Amino acid sequence: MKTAITEMFGIEHPIIQGGMHYVGFAELAAAVSNAGGLGIITGLTQRTPELLAKEIARCHDMTDKPFGVNLTFLPTFSAPPYPEYIAAIKEGGIKIVETAGRSPEQYMPALKAAGIKVIHKCTSVRHSLKAEQIGCDAVSVDGFECGGHPGEDDMPNMILLPRAAEELKIPFVASGGMADARSLVAALAMGAAGMNMGTRFIATKEAPVHDNVKQALVAASELDTRLVMRALRNTERVLKNAGVERLLEIEREKGRALKIEDIHEEVAGVYPKVMIEGDMDAGAWSCGMVVGLIHDVPTVRELIDRIMAEADRLIRGRLMGFLGAERKASLEVA
Ligand SMILES: Cc1cc2nc3c(=O)[nH]c(=O)nc-3n(C[C@H](O)[C@H](O)[C@H](O)COP(=O)(O)O)c2cc1C
Repeated sequence: MKTAITEMFGIEHPIIQGGMHYVGFAELAAAVSNAGGLGIITGLTQRTPELLAKEIARCHDMTDKPFGVNLTFLPTFSAPPYPEYIAAIKEGGIKIVETAGRSPEQYMPALKAAGIKVIHKCTSVRHSLKAEQIGCDAVSVDGFECGGHPGEDDMPNMILLPRAAEELKIPFVASGGMADARSLVAALAMGAAGMNMGTRFIATKEAPVHDNVKQALVAASELDTRLVMRALRNTERVLKNAGVERLLEIEREKGRALKIEDIHEEVAGVYPKVMIEGDMDAGAWSCGMVVGLIHDVPTVRELIDRIMAEADRLIRGRLMGFLGAERKASLEVA
Protein backbone atom coordinates (compact mmCIF):
# COMPACT_ATOMS: atom_id res chain seq x y z
CA MET A 1 0.00 0.00 0.00
CA LYS A 2 1.29 3.44 -0.92
CA THR A 3 0.41 6.50 1.19
CA ALA A 4 2.10 9.80 2.08
CA ILE A 5 3.52 8.05 5.17
CA THR A 6 4.99 5.03 3.36
CA GLU A 7 6.59 7.47 0.90
CA MET A 8 7.91 9.80 3.60
CA PHE A 9 9.51 7.06 5.70
CA GLY A 10 10.48 4.62 2.93
CA ILE A 11 8.41 1.76 4.36
CA GLU A 12 6.21 -0.88 2.73
CA HIS A 13 3.11 -0.71 4.93
CA PRO A 14 1.55 2.37 6.60
CA ILE A 15 1.93 0.91 10.10
CA ILE A 16 4.05 2.45 12.85
CA GLN A 17 4.92 0.99 16.23
CA GLY A 18 4.74 3.84 18.75
CA GLY A 19 7.47 4.28 21.34
CA MET A 20 6.71 2.29 24.48
CA HIS A 21 8.60 2.49 27.74
CA TYR A 22 10.33 -0.84 28.53
CA VAL A 23 8.75 -2.43 25.42
CA GLY A 24 10.32 -0.50 22.54
CA PHE A 25 13.69 -2.23 22.56
CA ALA A 26 15.68 -3.19 19.46
CA GLU A 27 13.99 -6.63 19.22
CA LEU A 28 10.51 -5.17 18.68
CA ALA A 29 11.60 -2.20 16.54
CA ALA A 30 13.61 -4.48 14.24
CA ALA A 31 10.75 -7.00 13.97
CA VAL A 32 8.30 -4.28 12.95
CA SER A 33 10.70 -2.76 10.42
CA ASN A 34 11.61 -6.18 9.00
CA ALA A 35 7.88 -6.86 8.50
CA GLY A 36 7.55 -3.68 6.42
CA GLY A 37 6.29 -1.26 9.09
CA LEU A 38 8.21 1.38 11.02
CA GLY A 39 9.70 0.16 14.30
CA ILE A 40 10.58 2.67 16.98
CA ILE A 41 13.09 2.37 19.85
CA THR A 42 12.00 4.18 23.01
CA GLY A 43 14.83 6.62 23.71
CA LEU A 44 14.30 7.26 27.39
CA THR A 45 13.99 3.60 28.36
CA GLN A 46 17.76 3.70 27.80
CA ARG A 47 18.98 5.37 30.98
CA THR A 48 21.82 7.28 29.30
CA PRO A 49 22.57 8.56 25.78
CA GLU A 50 25.46 6.05 25.64
CA LEU A 51 23.04 3.17 26.26
CA LEU A 52 20.71 4.54 23.57
CA ALA A 53 23.65 4.58 21.13
CA LYS A 54 24.23 0.88 21.93
CA GLU A 55 20.54 0.05 21.49
CA ILE A 56 20.50 1.79 18.09
CA ALA A 57 23.61 -0.17 17.05
CA ARG A 58 21.93 -3.42 18.20
CA CYS A 59 18.87 -2.59 16.10
CA HIS A 60 21.05 -1.87 13.04
CA ASP A 61 22.47 -5.39 13.51
CA MET A 62 18.94 -6.84 13.36
CA THR A 63 17.52 -4.90 10.40
CA ASP A 64 18.66 -2.97 7.36
CA LYS A 65 15.22 -1.34 7.07
CA PRO A 66 14.43 2.17 8.36
CA PHE A 67 13.56 2.46 12.05
CA GLY A 68 13.09 5.44 14.35
CA VAL A 69 13.61 6.59 17.92
CA ASN A 70 10.97 8.02 20.27
CA LEU A 71 11.81 11.04 22.39
CA THR A 72 9.22 11.75 25.07
CA PHE A 73 9.04 15.15 26.74
CA LEU A 74 6.89 14.37 29.77
CA PRO A 75 7.12 15.60 33.33
CA THR A 76 9.59 13.20 34.93
CA PHE A 77 11.13 13.14 38.36
CA SER A 78 14.44 14.39 36.84
CA ALA A 79 14.89 15.95 33.37
CA PRO A 80 16.90 13.79 30.93
CA PRO A 81 19.80 15.33 28.91
CA TYR A 82 17.85 15.69 25.65
CA PRO A 83 20.65 17.29 23.56
CA GLU A 84 22.90 14.31 24.31
CA TYR A 85 20.10 11.88 23.40
CA ILE A 86 19.65 13.76 20.10
CA ALA A 87 23.42 13.54 19.46
CA ALA A 88 23.25 9.74 19.99
CA ILE A 89 20.30 9.55 17.56
CA LYS A 90 22.15 11.59 14.94
CA GLU A 91 25.39 9.65 15.33
CA GLY A 92 23.45 6.38 15.13
CA GLY A 93 22.32 7.37 11.62
CA ILE A 94 18.64 7.59 12.62
CA LYS A 95 16.53 9.57 10.15
CA ILE A 96 13.13 9.38 11.87
CA VAL A 97 12.21 10.60 15.35
CA GLU A 98 8.81 10.29 17.01
CA THR A 99 8.40 13.08 19.55
CA ALA A 100 5.67 13.10 22.20
CA GLY A 101 4.59 14.84 25.37
CA ARG A 102 5.49 18.52 25.14
CA SER A 103 6.14 20.38 21.87
CA PRO A 104 9.53 19.50 20.34
CA GLU A 105 9.99 23.14 19.21
CA GLN A 106 13.16 23.70 21.23
CA TYR A 107 14.84 20.69 19.61
CA MET A 108 13.60 21.12 16.03
CA PRO A 109 16.70 23.02 14.79
CA ALA A 110 19.01 20.21 16.00
CA LEU A 111 16.76 17.47 14.58
CA LYS A 112 16.34 19.20 11.23
CA ALA A 113 20.06 20.01 10.96
CA ALA A 114 20.67 16.26 11.28
CA GLY A 115 18.31 15.58 8.34
CA ILE A 116 15.81 13.85 10.64
CA LYS A 117 12.12 13.57 9.81
CA VAL A 118 9.98 14.35 12.86
CA ILE A 119 6.58 12.80 13.52
CA HIS A 120 5.04 14.43 16.58
CA LYS A 121 2.45 12.51 18.56
CA CYS A 122 -0.25 14.68 20.10
CA THR A 123 -3.85 14.51 21.20
CA SER A 124 -5.54 17.59 19.72
CA VAL A 125 -6.00 19.50 16.50
CA ARG A 126 -4.42 22.63 18.02
CA HIS A 127 -1.27 20.76 19.02
CA SER A 128 -1.16 19.10 15.58
CA LEU A 129 -1.34 22.52 13.92
CA LYS A 130 1.41 23.78 16.19
CA ALA A 131 3.54 20.77 15.18
CA GLU A 132 2.92 21.60 11.51
CA GLN A 133 3.82 25.24 12.14
CA ILE A 134 7.16 24.45 13.82
CA GLY A 135 8.24 22.23 10.94
CA CYS A 136 7.26 18.68 11.93
CA ASP A 137 6.98 16.44 8.88
CA ALA A 138 3.97 14.44 10.09
CA VAL A 139 1.74 14.01 13.10
CA SER A 140 0.53 10.96 14.99
CA VAL A 141 -2.97 11.94 16.12
CA ASP A 142 -3.64 10.15 19.40
CA GLY A 143 -7.31 9.74 20.36
CA PHE A 144 -8.83 9.39 23.84
CA GLU A 145 -8.88 5.60 23.42
CA CYS A 146 -5.09 5.41 23.43
CA GLY A 147 -2.82 3.65 25.85
CA GLY A 148 -0.56 6.14 27.61
CA HIS A 149 -1.33 9.85 27.80
CA PRO A 150 -4.56 10.84 26.01
CA GLY A 151 -4.32 14.51 27.07
CA GLU A 152 -7.15 16.35 28.78
CA ASP A 153 -9.65 16.94 25.94
CA ASP A 154 -11.10 13.39 25.92
CA MET A 155 -11.59 13.51 22.16
CA PRO A 156 -12.12 10.09 20.55
CA ASN A 157 -10.68 9.32 17.13
CA MET A 158 -14.06 9.22 15.38
CA ILE A 159 -14.09 13.03 15.74
CA LEU A 160 -10.41 13.83 16.14
CA LEU A 161 -9.22 12.20 12.89
CA PRO A 162 -11.68 13.90 10.52
CA ARG A 163 -11.04 17.19 12.35
CA ALA A 164 -7.31 16.72 11.84
CA ALA A 165 -7.97 16.00 8.16
CA GLU A 166 -9.93 19.25 7.87
CA GLU A 167 -7.09 21.34 9.29
CA LEU A 168 -3.71 19.74 8.56
CA LYS A 169 -1.59 20.06 5.45
CA ILE A 170 1.09 17.60 6.58
CA PRO A 171 0.24 13.87 6.59
CA PHE A 172 -0.92 12.22 9.79
CA VAL A 173 -1.41 8.72 11.13
CA ALA A 174 -4.23 7.59 13.40
CA SER A 175 -3.08 6.52 16.85
CA GLY A 176 -5.07 5.06 19.74
CA GLY A 177 -7.47 2.15 19.43
CA MET A 178 -5.79 0.76 16.30
CA ALA A 179 -5.57 -3.04 16.23
CA ASP A 180 -6.36 -4.58 12.88
CA ALA A 181 -7.40 -4.10 9.25
CA ARG A 182 -10.69 -2.52 10.29
CA SER A 183 -8.77 0.15 12.20
CA LEU A 184 -6.45 0.80 9.26
CA VAL A 185 -9.19 1.06 6.65
CA ALA A 186 -11.33 3.28 8.90
CA ALA A 187 -8.34 5.51 9.64
CA LEU A 188 -7.60 5.86 5.93
CA ALA A 189 -11.27 6.69 5.28
CA MET A 190 -11.11 9.44 7.90
CA GLY A 191 -8.14 11.09 6.23
CA ALA A 192 -5.14 9.47 7.90
CA ALA A 193 -2.23 8.14 5.84
CA GLY A 194 -1.60 5.18 8.12
CA MET A 195 -1.83 4.03 11.72
CA ASN A 196 0.28 3.93 14.85
CA MET A 197 -0.17 1.03 17.27
CA GLY A 198 1.09 0.65 20.81
CA THR A 199 -0.80 -1.86 22.94
CA ARG A 200 -1.41 -4.31 20.06
CA PHE A 201 2.33 -4.67 19.44
CA ILE A 202 2.98 -5.72 23.06
CA ALA A 203 1.00 -8.93 22.48
CA THR A 204 3.41 -10.24 19.84
CA LYS A 205 6.02 -12.99 20.06
CA GLU A 206 8.93 -10.59 19.54
CA ALA A 207 7.88 -7.97 22.13
CA PRO A 208 10.66 -8.40 24.71
CA VAL A 209 8.40 -8.40 27.77
CA HIS A 210 7.38 -11.02 30.33
CA ASP A 211 4.79 -13.51 29.08
CA ASN A 212 2.46 -12.50 31.96
CA VAL A 213 2.02 -9.12 30.23
CA LYS A 214 1.00 -10.71 26.92
CA GLN A 215 -1.40 -13.09 28.66
CA ALA A 216 -2.92 -10.20 30.67
CA LEU A 217 -3.59 -8.34 27.41
CA VAL A 218 -5.27 -11.36 25.81
CA ALA A 219 -7.39 -11.88 28.95
CA ALA A 220 -8.46 -8.23 29.41
CA SER A 221 -11.53 -6.64 27.85
CA GLU A 222 -12.17 -3.11 26.59
CA LEU A 223 -13.62 -2.33 30.04
CA ASP A 224 -10.37 -3.01 31.88
CA THR A 225 -8.46 0.25 31.47
CA ARG A 226 -8.53 3.13 33.97
CA LEU A 227 -7.57 6.80 33.78
CA VAL A 228 -5.13 7.92 36.46
CA MET A 229 -3.41 11.21 37.38
CA ARG A 230 -6.25 13.36 36.03
CA ALA A 231 -5.94 15.75 39.00
CA LEU A 232 -2.30 16.33 38.00
CA ARG A 233 -3.30 17.12 34.38
CA ASN A 234 -1.04 14.25 33.37
CA THR A 235 -3.81 11.75 32.62
CA GLU A 236 -2.67 8.24 31.75
CA ARG A 237 -4.71 5.29 30.53
CA VAL A 238 -3.49 2.13 32.25
CA LEU A 239 -4.52 -1.49 32.73
CA LYS A 240 -6.35 -1.99 36.01
CA ASN A 241 -4.59 -4.05 38.66
CA ALA A 242 -4.17 -4.06 42.45
CA GLY A 243 -1.59 -1.24 42.33
CA VAL A 244 -3.91 0.88 40.17
CA GLU A 245 -6.84 0.26 42.56
CA ARG A 246 -4.60 1.53 45.40
CA LEU A 247 -3.68 4.56 43.33
CA LEU A 248 -7.32 5.34 42.56
CA GLU A 249 -8.17 5.07 46.24
CA ILE A 250 -5.45 7.64 47.08
CA GLU A 251 -6.78 9.87 44.27
CA ARG A 252 -10.30 9.65 45.70
CA GLU A 253 -9.02 10.56 49.18
CA LYS A 254 -6.85 13.49 48.10
CA GLY A 255 -9.13 14.89 45.39
CA ARG A 256 -7.79 18.02 43.75
CA ALA A 257 -5.06 18.31 46.40
CA LEU A 258 -3.30 15.26 44.94
CA LYS A 259 0.46 15.61 44.50
CA ILE A 260 2.74 13.32 42.52
CA GLU A 261 4.54 12.38 45.77
CA ASP A 262 1.27 10.87 47.08
CA ILE A 263 1.30 8.20 44.37
CA HIS A 264 5.04 7.80 43.90
CA GLU A 265 4.97 4.12 44.86
CA GLU A 266 2.20 3.29 42.36
CA VAL A 267 3.75 5.14 39.37
CA ALA A 268 7.53 5.26 39.79
CA GLY A 269 9.72 2.32 38.82
CA VAL A 270 6.68 0.23 37.84
CA TYR A 271 7.70 -0.61 34.26
CA PRO A 272 10.68 -2.91 34.96
CA LYS A 273 8.59 -4.74 37.58
CA VAL A 274 5.79 -5.35 35.07
CA MET A 275 7.66 -5.78 31.81
CA ILE A 276 10.73 -7.67 33.06
CA GLU A 277 9.56 -9.45 36.23
CA GLY A 278 5.94 -9.95 35.12
CA ASP A 279 4.52 -8.55 38.38
CA MET A 280 1.08 -7.62 37.06
CA ASP A 281 -0.04 -5.85 40.24
CA ALA A 282 2.96 -3.52 40.57
CA GLY A 283 1.13 -0.29 39.62
CA ALA A 284 0.27 1.93 36.67
CA TRP A 285 1.44 0.96 33.21
CA SER A 286 -0.02 2.25 29.95
CA CYS A 287 -2.59 0.18 28.10
CA GLY A 288 -5.23 1.19 25.53
CA MET A 289 -8.93 0.33 25.31
CA VAL A 290 -7.92 -1.58 22.20
CA VAL A 291 -6.95 -4.37 24.59
CA GLY A 292 -10.53 -5.59 24.05
CA LEU A 293 -9.59 -6.40 20.45
CA ILE A 294 -6.48 -8.43 21.31
CA HIS A 295 -7.19 -12.15 21.26
CA ASP A 296 -3.85 -13.73 20.32
CA VAL A 297 -0.06 -13.41 20.40
CA PRO A 298 1.13 -13.66 16.79
CA THR A 299 4.58 -12.83 15.45
CA VAL A 300 4.92 -9.23 14.31
CA ARG A 301 5.11 -10.39 10.69
CA GLU A 302 1.94 -12.49 11.07
CA LEU A 303 0.16 -9.50 12.58
CA ILE A 304 1.22 -7.03 9.90
CA ASP A 305 0.67 -9.47 7.02
CA ARG A 306 -2.78 -10.26 8.39
CA ILE A 307 -3.67 -6.57 8.68
CA MET A 308 -2.56 -5.81 5.13
CA ALA A 309 -4.26 -8.87 3.58
CA GLU A 310 -7.52 -8.18 5.42
CA ALA A 311 -7.36 -4.46 4.57
CA ASP A 312 -7.16 -5.44 0.92
CA ARG A 313 -10.17 -7.75 1.32
CA LEU A 314 -12.11 -5.08 3.22
CA ILE A 315 -11.54 -2.45 0.58
CA ARG A 316 -12.05 -4.65 -2.49
CA GLY A 317 -14.79 -6.81 -1.01
CA ARG A 318 -16.87 -5.12 1.66
CA LEU A 319 -16.45 -1.48 0.63
CA MET A 320 -16.47 -1.95 -3.13
CA GLY A 321 -19.44 -4.27 -2.62
CA PHE A 322 -21.48 -1.32 -1.41
CA LEU A 323 -21.06 0.43 -4.72
CA GLY A 324 -23.43 -0.38 -7.59
CA ALA A 325 -22.06 -2.65 -10.33
CA GLU A 326 -22.01 0.21 -12.83
CA ARG A 327 -20.04 2.51 -10.52
CA LYS A 328 -17.63 -0.34 -9.70
CA ALA A 329 -16.99 -0.99 -13.38
CA SER A 330 -16.29 2.70 -14.00
CA LEU A 331 -13.77 2.70 -11.12
CA GLU A 332 -12.06 -0.39 -12.54
CA VAL A 333 -11.75 1.29 -15.95
CA ALA A 334 -10.31 4.44 -14.34
C1 LIG B 1 3.12 0.15 27.67
C2 LIG B 1 3.09 1.43 26.90
C3 LIG B 1 4.13 2.34 27.08
C4 LIG B 1 4.14 3.53 26.36
N1 LIG B 1 5.21 4.38 26.51
C5 LIG B 1 5.28 5.50 25.73
C6 LIG B 1 6.41 6.35 25.79
O1 LIG B 1 7.36 6.12 26.54
N2 LIG B 1 6.43 7.44 24.97
C7 LIG B 1 5.40 7.72 24.10
O2 LIG B 1 5.49 8.70 23.37
N3 LIG B 1 4.31 6.94 24.04
C8 LIG B 1 4.23 5.84 24.82
N4 LIG B 1 3.13 5.01 24.71
C9 LIG B 1 2.06 5.35 23.75
C10 LIG B 1 2.23 4.60 22.42
O3 LIG B 1 3.37 5.01 21.72
C11 LIG B 1 1.03 4.84 21.49
O4 LIG B 1 0.92 6.20 21.19
C12 LIG B 1 -0.27 4.36 22.11
O5 LIG B 1 -0.07 3.11 22.72
C13 LIG B 1 -1.35 4.26 21.05
O6 LIG B 1 -2.53 3.76 21.59
P1 LIG B 1 -2.93 2.19 21.58
O7 LIG B 1 -2.26 1.62 22.77
O8 LIG B 1 -4.39 2.23 21.67
O9 LIG B 1 -2.41 1.61 20.30
C14 LIG B 1 3.08 3.84 25.46
C15 LIG B 1 2.03 2.93 25.31
C16 LIG B 1 2.04 1.74 26.01
C17 LIG B 1 0.89 0.79 25.81
